[in-house]
Amino acid sequence: MQSNIKDTDESRQGESMVLEGKEGNSKKLFIESYGCQMNFSDSEIVASILLENGYNTTSELEEADLIMINTCAIRHKAEDTVRKRLTEFNALKRKKPSLKIGVLGCMAERLKTKLLEEEKVVDLVAGPDAYRDLPKLLEDVDDGRQAINVILSKEETYADLNPVRLGGNGVTAFVSITRGCDNMCTFCVVPFTRGRERSREPESIINECINLWNHGYREITLLGQNVDSYLWYGGGLKKDFDKATEEQKENSVDFAELLDRVAVAVPGMRIRFSTSNPQDMHESVLRTMAKHDNICKSIHLPFQSGSTAVLKRMNRQHTREEYIELIDKIKSIVPNIALSHDIIAGFCGETEEEHKETLSLMEYVKYDFGYMFAYSERPGTPAHKKMADDVPEEVKKRRLTEIIDLQQVHSKQRLESYLGKVHEVLIEGNSKRDENFWYGRISQNAVMVFPKTEGTKVGDFVMVRADSCTSATLLGEMI
Ligand code: SAH
Ligand code: F3S
Repeated sequence: MQSNIKDTDESRQGESMVLEGKEGNSKKLFIESYGCQMNFSDSEIVASILLENGYNTTSELEEADLIMINTCAIRHKAEDTVRKRLTEFNALKRKKPSLKIGVLGCMAERLKTKLLEEEKVVDLVAGPDAYRDLPKLLEDVDDGRQAINVILSKEETYADLNPVRLGGNGVTAFVSITRGCDNMCTFCVVPFTRGRERSREPESIINECINLWNHGYREITLLGQNVDSYLWYGGGLKKDFDKATEEQKENSVDFAELLDRVAVAVPGMRIRFSTSNPQDMHESVLRTMAKHDNICKSIHLPFQSGSTAVLKRMNRQHTREEYIELIDKIKSIVPNIALSHDIIAGFCGETEEEHKETLSLMEYVKYDFGYMFAYSERPGTPAHKKMADDVPEEVKKRRLTEIIDLQQVHSKQRLESYLGKVHEVLIEGNSKRDENFWYGRISQNAVMVFPKTEGTKVGDFVMVRADSCTSATLLGEMI
């Protein structure tokens, strides 16, 4: 929706990333990513594939021989941003006709050949499961053939590829563990753009974590659309687990076990995971979290709406009451847990009463943090096909504002509850405001800023007492 209220959008906006080059590579790739963490992680896979095919990355657009834009389709606004960016690339291409432009990710998958027709500047289109095909697609462009691959895969997890780490802080990294999503929430385009759910082989995940530890990384986030649904049984789609052999079923690995194995394999590493889905979050995961100090005490648990009727229209597999039960269980098994959410305001048919149920659920849980959105109808989704997007824009906006305002109150309360206590902080870098201060996070994911002391460096774990806070940051002192 067109709104002057900013969604608290988790989508990072068009960051370009670079890595160390490979000797002998003569061409330059500029890669820019939008949207969720998974896209940023995928861009690292793309860069590592192209590194083996003659391309080093650059942060200078003017220098690029190839521009790849990894796109998001989750809301209308995300696609608008990409289209605007393509117009800018068009101007560059006029100056340098040999420049190639590729569109990757969810918008590529959603629009397919339409993208080549509508955006003349685009030379190449590749969906999230087609990145191994990029070298061939680039040849197609050279030969004047239409370069498009939007085939979704049953197996692809890019497990064997060691993603190069693009432009990060050298301390925190994403490790993808599942791809796709089977949930079919009626508002969501992801099942169509990222395909069916499949899990990555545990050994390759653990090896990647060990490798990251050996390269100085101190925090990993295990990534998936629905991590709690992780299930490895020898390959294949989650939905085909029924067809697995008895032996495969016996040796299968679920999320709690994976989490446990990772925590043991890299005991010094902080471990986070995202995103959890209430329907799949089992007690075994909570017990594993409580058991290991290196698993961070923070859960991102979207609930979308506090009304059971709305949840039903959204095809979420839980009720308000079940969600509350889960929250109570989490709080009792994992003390000091920080909770965050995703909420959609103004979904099809949402009444004022239903909206109030969202606010009251927020009151009950008191989340540390949240991502809040106005409903944006996506073509092809079940909601688009079967329901009317009938909440007026100004009502959506007003409800979103109420949700955001309430979250701000709770975020402040939660931050205040951390004051006067000593927290372990992983130093991630300089504070943006003042380079005499460090920037890091506590286990509960809150940001802590504190004065540097001699002998400390990025990647260190230090103990910091929280003394005060602004609306989103703890201020403290090392002890
Ligand atoms: N399971 C995924 C969810 C991806 S989408 C994950 O890993 O985070 C992230 C959030 O975007 C969703 O939880 C939902 O709150 C929001 N969202 C999805 N489709 C939307 C739509 N059509 N309009 C507004 N918000 C949407
Ligand atoms: Fe989308 Fe629901 Fe999956 S929000 S990513 S369909 S869990």
